[in-house]
Amino acid sequence: MSGPLRIVILSDNQAEPGFVPEHGFAMLIEMDQRRILFDCGKNTCVLAANADAAGVDLSGIDGLVLSHGHYDHTGGIPHLLELIPTLPVYCHPDIRQTRYSIREAKPKDISMPPESSYALEKMPAGNLHLVEEPLQLSKNLLLSGPIPRLTEYEDTGGPFYLDTGALQADLLNDELVLLCSLAEGIVVCTGCSHSGIVNILHWTQKRFPGQNILAVIGGFHLGNASAERMHKTFDALRNLPVRQWIPCHCTGEAASAAFFREFPGQVCPGAAGRRWEF
Ligand SMILES: [Fe+2]
Ligand SMILES: [Fe+2]
Repeated sequence: MSGPLRIVILSDNQAEPGFVPEHGFAMLIEMDQRRILFDCGKNTCVLAANADAAGVDLSGIDGLVLSHGHYDHTGGIPHLLELIPTLPVYCHPDIRQTRYSIREAKPKDISMPPESSYALEKMPAGNLHLVEEPLQLSKNLLLSGPIPRLTEYEDTGGPFYLDTGALQADLLNDELVLLCSLAEGIVVCTGCSHSGIVNILHWTQKRFPGQNILAVIGGFHLGNASAERMHKTFDALRNLPVRQWIPCHCTGEAASAAFFREFPGQVCPGAAGRRWEF
């Protein structure tokens, strides 16, 4: 018996009235008697205010999944570990690495905040679960390891580097997605889709052959995508058995509009305060 699955967004670039927007992402996922926070936004005060507004007690979560190490997904770590010192955290071992976005030769550090990195470093042994391959969090919640990059037209979606001289590309190999399995199909939760949304969904199909994808929720990171990438991406997405698209966070305005055009009646954009039950 699977389900129900309940999701509420607690940090997003858009917000329902009474909620605060920010450039960040976090959502609470409840399934199998587990309450998992998937990412924790940029600003602790935004996460706390939105949790309050949504009636979510953050001290009652029993796991934190970090989709990748960017600052806009990892800001709430110190606050959450202060609230729940024994909180299990699931992330890739490379999540704390220093990384940059470089535009016009100006590097911007987009690593997780030092306070978050320090809080992870100081966690009690055994509570920090380093995920390098698929991990079952509960009967119906599967955390991916790194997603194989198989499409030739998808990249990480930005000018991401591991050094300030733009010599070594950051492939965001620390990215993880969470798959929620219901009797009717799979719900795919993604932070920024730096692995490529098509790669993510092809991997999902490989793990769950023949199953429907009930919803794909998260940032699809297509704001910088070329016309060619957009064209090839939507060609691929049209062939997938996805019922509902929930573009959030870093999807990009043009890409969100393209989802509405391509999949009429199947798109419901995310925003802090929005909730779903499957
Ligand atoms: Fe992001
Ligand atoms: Fe990101």
